[in-house]
Amino acid sequence: MAIPAHYIQELLQRNSVVDVIGGHVHLKRHGRIYKGLCPFHSEKTPSFTVYPETQSYYCFGCGAGGDIISFAKEINGLTYVEAVKMLAQQSGMPLPDEDDKLSKLKSRIYEMNKIAARYFHANLNSEKGKNARIYLRQRQLSDKTIVNFGLGYASDGWQDLCNYLKRKGFSEEEMVSAYLAARSSKGNIYDIFRDRIIFPIIDLRGNVIAFGGRRMGDEGGPKYLNSGDTPVFKKSNGLFALNLAKKSGKETFILAEGYMDVISLHQAGFNNAIATLGTALTGQQAKLIADYAKNVVIAYDSDEAGQKATRRAMDIFSKEDVTVQVLQMEGAKDPDEYIKKFGRDRFEALIENANSALDFELLKLRKQHDIKDTQGRIDYLTKACDVLAAIPSPVLQDVYCSRLAGETGADKASIKLQLEQSKNKLYRSNNYKKGKEMLKEGVAGGIKVDYRQQGNTLPKVFAQQQIISALIRDNDFFPVVDSQLTEDDFTDTDMKKAFIEYKRLKAEGQNVSYALLCHYLDEGARKNLAKINATNAEIIMTSNDLQMHINNLRTAPMGQNEIKQTSVEDLAKRIESLKEKKK
Ligand code: CTP
Ligand code: MN
Repeated sequence: MAIPAHYIQELLQRNSVVDVIGGHVHLKRHGRIYKGLCPFHSEKTPSFTVYPETQSYYCFGCGAGGDIISFAKEINGLTYVEAVKMLAQQSGMPLPDEDDKLSKLKSRIYEMNKIAARYFHANLNSEKGKNARIYLRQRQLSDKTIVNFGLGYASDGWQDLCNYLKRKGFSEEEMVSAYLAARSSKGNIYDIFRDRIIFPIIDLRGNVIAFGGRRMGDEGGPKYLNSGDTPVFKKSNGLFALNLAKKSGKETFILAEGYMDVISLHQAGFNNAIATLGTALTGQQAKLIADYAKNVVIAYDSDEAGQKATRRAMDIFSKEDVTVQVLQMEGAKDPDEYIKKFGRDRFEALIENANSALDFELLKLRKQHDIKDTQGRIDYLTKACDVLAAIPSPVLQDVYCSRLAGETGADKASIKLQLEQSKNKLYRSNNYKKGKEMLKEGVAGGIKVDYRQQGNTLPKVFAQQQIISALIRDNDFFPVVDSQLTEDDFTDTDMKKAFIEYKRLKAEGQNVSYALLCHYLDEGARKNLAKINATNAEIIMTSNDLQMHINNLRTAPMGQNEIKQTSVEDLAKRIESLKEKKK
């Protein structure tokens, strides 16, 4: 986040948490805290609490928690920066300077990219672009396709584009930050894309956000060069031709591996094809795709790398609301080659017969085992049942059990028994994971066990929470903690991150409040801390208490064994009993 700490401090000074939240929630004062009906879930008795001391809020009903900026963000459905701007405006502050600079740079980059894309495209029709024209012809791209994708050519010189952009009024810094130019060790700038076919990457609003460049011959560096991250582009979020696929209005998208696959597919009428930009599919890309498509056909390369990537992509899509099918191509390495070899109609037939993700997995297992051999058959059935155990529909499970029986000649009833075992195994391993989370949640849930009673529940995590909570409430504690602990002593991810950021802000000379710290933490850590603040609100922490927590952190056992040995049910009971004690 580019907004500097001093700006956030000023914003926190000018906007009291009670005023900001009081504008949306009817708050009633109870001693040092305020209570009201939670605006984030529906309730009849107030469990939403505001703490002026830590400038935080926390709802004991739904777990919402944070500071004024997260409140403004969530209640108004704004982005972080929008929320900061809104609060700044309300309290008469100028808008954050940094942010302003950044948004100016962004619009300059958009402008520059558009001009560069036009320049590259114009090169294609000029004398310089002769070889590029021949290359594209060889690859059987029509003029219509070239225009549709805005393809271009970056000429061979070291500064052709730089000089052109300079004449258009762009500075060297701007070119470098757009990833169109780089600086040599001597400090001169030069074009990044040279003697390459250019593929502009265009976002959903029609902005040119980045470029891919393919070399034409066998020599001259990597086959493809892609823009690195810039203020307007994050490679791991980018998708090639998403703008066109969205316009196709189709519910199914085809996800290919390469630029050339996508272009070939579009040229053959599959205007719903997209690709990632030379990186493996990320969760963000999968989300973006799921926003526009109901179904995705993965059409990666048929080689081993492509098949591996397919399995990974399936995993990633399984978290999104899309159905996934997998294309099995034979006789060609990728969709581009397939269409050229066998024609568009056969590709269309492939899509229509694309396997469901489940079929794909089972087929793969089937290929790995020799089912004529008894052991091979057993292994195959065991693994197939593991796959089936994960699907939620019993009807579908039954269908597949019949199919497996037919395929292997095994008895359906025994396959179903095997399936039950797989389901149990899956249940146990899910439980184990859930148990770990619950344990974390239970302790983070502010079950404050008084150390004088017993210092048991995951003592290390508890100690870390108490230490961070102390630091937030009183900055004077910092030297005591800093002289005895390092970030490596913090084993809980949220508390570790909080400690690192706290320390960094202290080094900057800031007075670190909960609200300031929030700006450097993710949502999970922010909520976690809000909860700890809330449960500690009534407790006074002395330096003796703090020292005891430091000692505990350094000497207490990890508690990992507890996690392994405890079933979820036991854990739930223990957490409940701790809660009871607390009351
Ligand atoms: N890629 C990359 N850098 C490379 C090679 C590949 O970024 N050095 C990315 C590109 O986005 C490319 C994709 O990975 O489109 C797939 O690579 P590949 O199959 O090699 O390229 P194709 O798109 O099939 O291109 P072509 O048909 O021209 O070989
Ligand atoms: Mn390819």
